[in-house]
Amino acid sequence: MTFSSRDFERAVGMIVGVAKIGPATPKPLAYRLLRRLGVLKQLPWSWTDSSRLDWMPWGPLKDVEFPRATPPTGLSGPWPQTPVVDEGFSAPILNVGPQERWEHVRYNITRYVGQIVLLTPVAAVKALKGPRLEPIDDAKLADLFANTSFAQFICPELDPPDLTAFADLIPSGSERSYMKVDFSAMDLLGKPLPGIYVAPTVSLLEDLGGGRYRFRAIKVGRKVLKPEDGASWTLAKYFVLQGAQIHMVTMVHPKLHFPQDAVNAITKTILPEGHILSRLLRPHTQLTLGLHESVIHHRRSVLHNSQREIYTPFPFPTEGIHASVAIGMRGVPGNSAYPPYQFGNFLPGIHTMADIVRSGLMQCSNLHPWWQRRYPLTTPVSFRGQIKSAPGCLDFLMAAESSRRIILPAL
Ligand SMILES: [Fe+2]
Repeated sequence: MTFSSRDFERAVGMIVGVAKIGPATPKPLAYRLLRRLGVLKQLPWSWTDSSRLDWMPWGPLKDVEFPRATPPTGLSGPWPQTPVVDEGFSAPILNVGPQERWEHVRYNITRYVGQIVLLTPVAAVKALKGPRLEPIDDAKLADLFANTSFAQFICPELDPPDLTAFADLIPSGSERSYMKVDFSAMDLLGKPLPGIYVAPTVSLLEDLGGGRYRFRAIKVGRKVLKPEDGASWTLAKYFVLQGAQIHMVTMVHPKLHFPQDAVNAITKTILPEGHILSRLLRPHTQLTLGLHESVIHHRRSVLHNSQREIYTPFPFPTEGIHASVAIGMRGVPGNSAYPPYQFGNFLPGIHTMADIVRSGLMQCSNLHPWWQRRYPLTTPVSFRGQIKSAPGCLDFLMAAESSRRIILPAL
């Protein structure tokens, strides 16, 4: 048995949690030191929290009386129900039970607390030393959007307002060579935190072929800026990156987590104990219900961006972050960059090189023994094109049940 760095972080988190010191308390002494050193602008607990957090606990979720779900007659177990934090969220699973909650504390929370203890000194030195903002040239910006997970933000569809704003820049007949990166929803998230500036942006990208792009213009609010616009262009690029970060973490990422709770809970409740499908799915559904229940409903979760915590990095107060999650779910009508969430095989950024590489890796994972050795608890089956809807998902799973490529979890 090996003792990894993760285990070390968890051990530290466990000690801190049991001793009720440091980040396991609402007002850690070390934060006063960080304030004195100038790392923190003000003491975290001097911030006022949103009233949305009033009912949320500082301690364990077991102390909260959540509404009970109502599964169909004859079934008992976790079941999706009406959201309690924001009506725009996907159906949450509440009262997930002691086992799911304990696994979340044992594997997620302890590591989180351990990381706060172990990584804060380095983060504090970096914050003091700077630079906090690194310059970025146009080529690097384009490369980030072509070859990293930001590629999913390249939207091949220009909508009527985009065509109007960028009319002078798109030669007639070559419309198909132009795409956009749209972070205009930054305008829908309300006022930012005091002292923070945000701006909605829509960038016009020229497709140069071979997975390469060029930023031709950035619309900030109503102003269209071009590379020759000097400092304004530099600032516009920062706003694009800010939009990318907020969209990635608070609008896109929640869609990878929360909507699948329904499949997770229903599967666990419907399938008989020991059923092969239940065994196949178990590795994919572990450490999830407890995590999500806590992420959405615990006041110290990063999802609420309470400035009483030192790990909450977003520029908007709680209401803005919740709005962002909700926009990710329902989309923005009339804007091709913000489709509503739909369960299925849609993988964002499907037309970009980054996606082609990702797809290739998924295919390889089917075949390569290294992958199977490395992740023995996974079911390395290519699912692209096979899961089209919830019923389709079940068809796929039924087919997978008899597939020789499946590695059965060692249960
Ligand atoms: Fe995640």
